[in-house]
Amino acid sequence: MEFSIKSGSPEKQRTACVVVGVFEPRRLTLAGDLIDRISNDYLSDIIRRGDMEGKLGSTLLLHNVPHTLCDRVLLVGLGKERDFKDQEFRKAVQSSIKTLNETGSMEAVMYLTELHVRRRDMDWKIEQTVLMAMESVYRFDRLKSKQEEVRRPLRKLTLSVSRRNELAAGEEAVRRSQAIAQGVNLAKDLGNLPANICTPAYLAEQAVGLGKTLNLKVEVLEQQDMEKLGMGALLSVAKGSRQPAKFIVLHYPGGDKKHKPVVLVGKGITFDAGGISLKPAADMDEMKYDMSGAASVLGTMKAVAQLQLPISVVGIIPACENLPDGAANKPGDVVTSMSGQTIEVLNTDAEGRLILCDALTYAERFEPEAVIDIATLTGACVIALGHHANGLFSNDDALARELLQAGEYAHDRAWQLPLWDDYQEQLKSNFADMANIGGRPAGSITAACFLSRFAKKYTWAHLDIAGTAWKSGKEKGATGRPVPLLTQFLVRRAQEIKQKAEG
Ligand code: BES
Ligand code: MN
Ligand code: ZN
Repeated sequence: MEFSIKSGSPEKQRTACVVVGVFEPRRLTLAGDLIDRISNDYLSDIIRRGDMEGKLGSTLLLHNVPHTLCDRVLLVGLGKERDFKDQEFRKAVQSSIKTLNETGSMEAVMYLTELHVRRRDMDWKIEQTVLMAMESVYRFDRLKSKQEEVRRPLRKLTLSVSRRNELAAGEEAVRRSQAIAQGVNLAKDLGNLPANICTPAYLAEQAVGLGKTLNLKVEVLEQQDMEKLGMGALLSVAKGSRQPAKFIVLHYPGGDKKHKPVVLVGKGITFDAGGISLKPAADMDEMKYDMSGAASVLGTMKAVAQLQLPISVVGIIPACENLPDGAANKPGDVVTSMSGQTIEVLNTDAEGRLILCDALTYAERFEPEAVIDIATLTGACVIALGHHANGLFSNDDALARELLQAGEYAHDRAWQLPLWDDYQEQLKSNFADMANIGGRPAGSITAACFLSRFAKKYTWAHLDIAGTAWKSGKEKGATGRPVPLLTQFLVRRAQEIKQKAEG
């Protein structure tokens, strides 16, 4: 989809559709008023007759509004003006885009971006609109033999700003939003691909491909390399599969030498059958999404590199399958991690932490500014937070706060859960330094506690995205989360680095 920024009167737009808002009860916005005036009260007449009351998310499509230069005017309800906040803005934009996609207009000029949204600036309005529009046209149909034709989808969306001096900043915001949207789409595509296509080797190829187009340095460590490094926990999971494990490292050297990198670590289990602790059959297909953490690392690296952010980022992806097999981990097996700590594998289905712990140890070599791991780690997180919030854990409150704020801004929200030492006891093993499970109570927290034992040497946060990375049911599919959160976090960090450098 194409996006542009414009400033100018709605009644003068030569376009298929002009989108303007109506507050409840029956009050036109500034753009609506301008059209109303030129059309001799055409809009206020309609509103007076009760066909558009301004209820949030309602729409009314009008044709041939007198004296305008556009084919259509789409009225969108905004709800009560004093309740109009970020969520209401999103809802109004979402329903206008839905109507545009379902009716004849293939291009439109949107005036909702001129509305005042409490505590949000123009960049935010543009970013949200671009991301919602891209979301509305995303399809994953490359594996169908016939692509479904969408009837007259939206092709070009122009966003209006109130003043000419906002045009340049608006265009910059569009550029940034499109980079994020492309990162989101990459994460969605990888998540949606089935495990017979999206193997560890496929993820490695994708990383190498990204490296070529975006000038990233990419290394792929093979089994022997991992053996040499002593990654016994990761390799114990991989040995139950015929697909060779890959350990993928991407470098985006955006910062100057004196700045240490932010390291992103993504869980790359391309299929999780549970291993010998086999999962039930129902919905097991959804475990192809168990590499969504890895996908979000690739998506974020893509966005960051496209934006040329002045910050160094390293992406680490431990990738393998978790399957039952004669060579697979058995409950009770004891494995030695790269850190030297030994782990009793009481449940082979708690495999994410086994591959992540070695990746976290590997991350030490970058002397990172911060390490963030992203993983579809626990079903318990879905029970705790549902599908709306990413679970957030951190050994550093300032880092946690930054991530919470980034998620809030990007509408990719996270909620922090405790990492208190009290929970560590649940990981006690009689036979090794720790067990890989902590029992039913607080399953997401004990999983994070396990990881924290491998993240002692740096500032670290863990995002459990089991509930947010994909949707099940009728709209089954990957969401691309938390690429928006991570990109926003890095954009902010880059801004801070730049501000400090400028004194
Ligand atoms: N990949 C799963 C977590 C998961 C489950 C994500 C459901 C999304 C939906 C993970 O590897 C896993 O199996 N976790 C176990 C841990 C348990 C054995 C302690 C779980 O959550 O059941
Ligand atoms: Mn599992
Ligand atoms: Zn898993």
